[in-house]
Amino acid sequence: MRRITLSQFLVGRQHDGKINTDLRLLIETIARACKAISTRVNKGALADGLGSTENKNIQGEVQKKLDVLSNEILLEANEWGGNLAALASEEMDDPKPIPTHYPRGEYLLLFDPLDGSSNIDVNISVGTIFSVLRCPKLDNGSFCEPNEKAFLQPGRSQVAAGFAVYGPTTVFVLTVGDGAHGFTLDRETYTFVLTHPDIRIPEDTQEFAINVSNQRRWEAPVKRYIDECLAGKEGPRGKDFNMRWVASMVADVFRVLSRGGIFMYPRDAKNKEGRLRLMYEANPMSFIVEQAGGSATDGKTRILDLQPRGLHQRVAVVLGSRNEVEVVAGYHK
Ligand code: F6P
Repeated sequence: MRRITLSQFLVGRQHDGKINTDLRLLIETIARACKAISTRVNKGALADGLGSTENKNIQGEVQKKLDVLSNEILLEANEWGGNLAALASEEMDDPKPIPTHYPRGEYLLLFDPLDGSSNIDVNISVGTIFSVLRCPKLDNGSFCEPNEKAFLQPGRSQVAAGFAVYGPTTVFVLTVGDGAHGFTLDRETYTFVLTHPDIRIPEDTQEFAINVSNQRRWEAPVKRYIDECLAGKEGPRGKDFNMRWVASMVADVFRVLSRGGIFMYPRDAKNKEGRLRLMYEANPMSFIVEQAGGSATDGKTRILDLQPRGLHQRVAVVLGSRNEVEVVAGYHK
């Protein structure tokens, strides 16, 4: 079977008028940075990449060495290309406008440089998540100042989103709004090759992913849903469920994309807003999941319709197989 590379795929999308040259080059650059991060993750202890720094990020979480390195790789790769007006990272307090000595472009890039980083030191999959927005324009047609406000657009305004999961293989998943597609890194040619075209999430599932250690703090609709899953064949759902929780959103979502399932990080008595970040995790993943035929909600509202209030805002997330997400949303009504 003849397989195409990510570059060939993107050129095809450009010829079809789905993306312009700038967006194509931007995605190529992000993918190149992901390859570099993949190489560093892969080296593990050999490159002194494990362990923590002494710094905390804006969320108060201790930064791992590879969090910082991945952030630097993405910044350096994307600063000078001329496609971006500004970048924002989960690991940086404020957005970074493109320095004035480089050309500025029309896009805004957000990323979580190394998602699931508590798993780095124990050799479990981690990943990079990204989201691309257009920089809003002023009435006179020029681009507005690319400050925090420019980024606060609902997820449905994303023009592209994707993630790389650094697992037994490195896979790069991408949407530009016409389906979700997966590319595996061929380590001999150092190219991403289209291996998962037009991913479709099965509408039904018997597999859920949630951190059950938070059970005592969940709200009633989530408690009810998980209790019913656990009751299995004898319970109201009339079927046995299986449970998986990698604790790396990239790996859990890739599983959902691969064979269906429901992934949940609900709000609870401790994480009152939820735990995952709207702009860096929930929005890009929801865009991809919807493009693969699944759904994503915070329980009450479609995630892509939420109006962001802040760059580092947290949100409750329920995403995956459409019919199962509907059950959970129904319990919230
Ligand atoms: O937001 C980072 C993250 O590591 C996600 O990738 C993952 O789904 C979640 O946090 C894991 O949370 P917990 O540590 O509660 O299992």
